[in-house]
Amino acid sequence: MSLPQPSGARLLSLGTSLPDNVVTNDDLAERVDTTHDWIVDRTGIQERRIGGTTSGLATDASRQAIERSGIDPSTIDLLILATTSPDRRVPATASTVQENLGLSCGAMDLNAACSGFVYGLIAAHGFINLGHRRILVVGAETLSRITNWDDRSTCILFADGAGAAVIERTDGEGDLKGWHVASNGALEDTLFCEFDGKLIMSGGAIFKNAVLAMERSALHSLEMADLTPDDIDLVVPHQANVRIVEASCKRLGIPFEKTSMTIHRTGNTSSASVPLALDHALQENRISKDDNVLLVGFGAGMTSASAVLKWNGV
Ligand code: ACO
Repeated sequence: MSLPQPSGARLLSLGTSLPDNVVTNDDLAERVDTTHDWIVDRTGIQERRIGGTTSGLATDASRQAIERSGIDPSTIDLLILATTSPDRRVPATASTVQENLGLSCGAMDLNAACSGFVYGLIAAHGFINLGHRRILVVGAETLSRITNWDDRSTCILFADGAGAAVIERTDGEGDLKGWHVASNGALEDTLFCEFDGKLIMSGGAIFKNAVLAMERSALHSLEMADLTPDDIDLVVPHQANVRIVEASCKRLGIPFEKTSMTIHRTGNTSSASVPLALDHALQENRISKDDNVLLVGFGAGMTSASAVLKWNGV
């Protein structure tokens, strides 16, 4: 069997899942020394969703994405689950999700922290180029399980959720016009979690580096796509802190109004945040055919990733 001809891919559908349990800033203020106003001013977060398992949230989001795509699930060739909070050390949580969905396909976890979904999307395009037809890309997290609920500098940020996308091989050029992935391992100690430990973070260092990493990654993808920031119709950024997004947009010269934001009600859901914000924009009818959509994330590692999609009208 010979290698197939290189091929493009298009995004067919999205699905999301958030836990029912809402934790407000006032709820947190009962446990740690903080206030609703401080959290909103410094992060933009008003509430977050907490609960469930990574596989459970990923399964629900995937079911919705498959349903919306109208495809036969048995035609899915690969499941890529981006997560930094797997249910077990072994096996990959992707295998649990595969079993839950009754799929017979390849399945693997991918850990690039909050850049994970964008890394997964780019990896899916690579697999499609090598001959796969349909791929399910999921970002799912239960960060609440690795959050220290007595540490006010981190517990106000992290939360749970999932988003999924069905990607399909296409005869034409496909949606992806530019992409970029990076990592700076020298900064690994700015955000880490030991086995059986809780997240430990240097917030200020991450803030500074995140703004630069998002700008750098976005510019790489734009250059590959032969576009400028002015050509971008919608930015779907990782939702870590509204001030990080504002600062990155300012450096890129893209108006903040062009971003899709969910952080006020979801908090930071790491790998899930980009698909959650992308789906939010779709539900709000903010994306039209042929729009240039910039996905951009950064996270522990410190990783960063971006992708420019020419929207195909789904
Ligand atoms: N409530 C009230 N006061 C607080 C809180 C809180 N929840 N947390 C910290 N403070 C205090 C600090 O103790 C400090 O007090 P001091 O001046 O007396 O020492 C003061 O507020 C200012 O603290 P800073 O850390 O300077 O506050 P800052 O404006 O930087 O905001 C924050 C902190 C929100 C954590 C910010 O640095 C941030 O968002 N950083 C990025 C974090 C991030 O994105 N992490 C995720 C990475 S992605 C991934 O992979 C998951």
